[in-house]
Amino acid sequence: MVCLGLVLPAGCGDTVGSSSGTQDTATGESTEATGESSSGVETGETDVETTAAGEPVTYYQHIQPILDARCVACHKAGAVGPFSLEGYDNASMWGEVALEAVEDGTMPPFMPDDSNCQPLEDFRKMEAWERDLLAQWVAQGEPEGDANAPAEVEVEVPKTTLGEPTRVFDAGLEYTPNDAEEDEYRCFLLDPAITDWTFLQAVSIDTNNWSRVHHAIVYSVPPELVGAAQAVDAETPGPGWDCYFGPGLDGTLAVGGYSPGAVPKPYDNGTTIPIAAGTQFIIETHFHQTYNQDPVSLAVTTWEHDDVVTRYPQWLPMFNSNFFIPAGEPSVTAPLAADINSVDQEPVYDPDPNAIKQGKEGLIWGVDFHMHLRGKTAKVELVRTDGTRECLLWVPRWRDEWQGSYAFKQPVMAKAGDRIEGTCEWDNSPDNQPWVDGVQLDPVDLYWGFDALDEMCNGGVSMTID
Ligand code: HEC
Repeated sequence: MVCLGLVLPAGCGDTVGSSSGTQDTATGESTEATGESSSGVETGETDVETTAAGEPVTYYQHIQPILDARCVACHKAGAVGPFSLEGYDNASMWGEVALEAVEDGTMPPFMPDDSNCQPLEDFRKMEAWERDLLAQWVAQGEPEGDANAPAEVEVEVPKTTLGEPTRVFDAGLEYTPNDAEEDEYRCFLLDPAITDWTFLQAVSIDTNNWSRVHHAIVYSVPPELVGAAQAVDAETPGPGWDCYFGPGLDGTLAVGGYSPGAVPKPYDNGTTIPIAAGTQFIIETHFHQTYNQDPVSLAVTTWEHDDVVTRYPQWLPMFNSNFFIPAGEPSVTAPLAADINSVDQEPVYDPDPNAIKQGKEGLIWGVDFHMHLRGKTAKVELVRTDGTRECLLWVPRWRDEWQGSYAFKQPVMAKAGDRIEGTCEWDNSPDNQPWVDGVQLDPVDLYWGFDALDEMCNGGVSMTID
């Protein structure tokens, strides 16, 4: 099983409900440090000057564009957020609570701090000037403004170039998750009846019941593995089978997925994942109990290239299972490392997988990281052959339920001989323990393991070889 870094919105593994304490977080002061800022940031900075303290900040002129860009994807009727922030009535009802969550750094759920690291692209990343305007609006009593006058700020959200999916493959399910379990991990095999080489540009999931699907990952099953997948499926009664951490079949490849609020993104730089005729999909789902008990339907949506495109995204993984986290320790670390030279994901269609070993250069497009509930901080760096270090990812406050993979605003050039290094840090003190059935667990010694209550330490970068 291979997890393809950037493709996955939610990392490559489980996430279960947790309480990771209420550490405070450094928010704000990140605008100037985001390097060659996008025009969105500049627009914002100008706007901050024109709405200096005391000048009116209104819903229609300032706040709606911010909430629509940063919150409404999750906070609208039927989405994962617990209430709607769409429209003036909702926004003003929740304004103070929204500001509190934003100042606290819990919302929008974007955990990396890229102010002194690689600038990241994500619709969840809120800029300091946006937070300032929200604070001014609440302080001024949340005025409505003029619905017919134009907005005065523009929030630039990374756009997906994807329109409607090329195809939608319905799994033909009405699955009722097992309510005896708060969390259920279930895999379903789906035959998309693909009759020719297909060049995937992006893959996502559609369902009738978003509130119940905590995340879902789509794996491609090459034709020679379909028999084995069918055998696993047949062993378990009912649709699908229980599966923790992927379908458990070597040779399947994660090609896309869904997590709360994620927008389907094309793979890096016009690359594709080619899949052969006869390939099937496995949908790995994590169901979480919610108020909405409706049976769940699932469909795989694909965006495809018409042409043969032989550049495919590669993922360079780092993995460490050899760590020990003593009960009660507030800070324990474990290292991660991988050589850029070792990029060797099995190519399906690539003529030259060893290009980087021959001195060609590669571009790193994004980074991902995975720990479980006791994660505290996460770091990934690029270490050049001369020893200089470049920060690729810094997560000052880990939150298990909001981990993910992150795209850089600009790709980073990597050369043969460079390395990536990472650090997992855990907090296994009494305050940072998960809650199960309303009771906070006592700290125990922790090791690597599949269970959500064990720990993990892995990460990686996604890249293309030029
Ligand atoms: C990616 C999806 C997502 C986005 C984007 C998002 N939220 Fe949330 N929000 C949630 C979910 C899910 C919950 C409930 C679980 C939790 O608290 O983590 C939540 C809870 C909240 C809560 C109540 C709990 C708390 O943390 O105080 C507030 C307030 C809130 N969101 C405000 C916002 C605001 C304001 C924005 C935009 C600036 C925003 N959210 C963006 C998904 C999202």
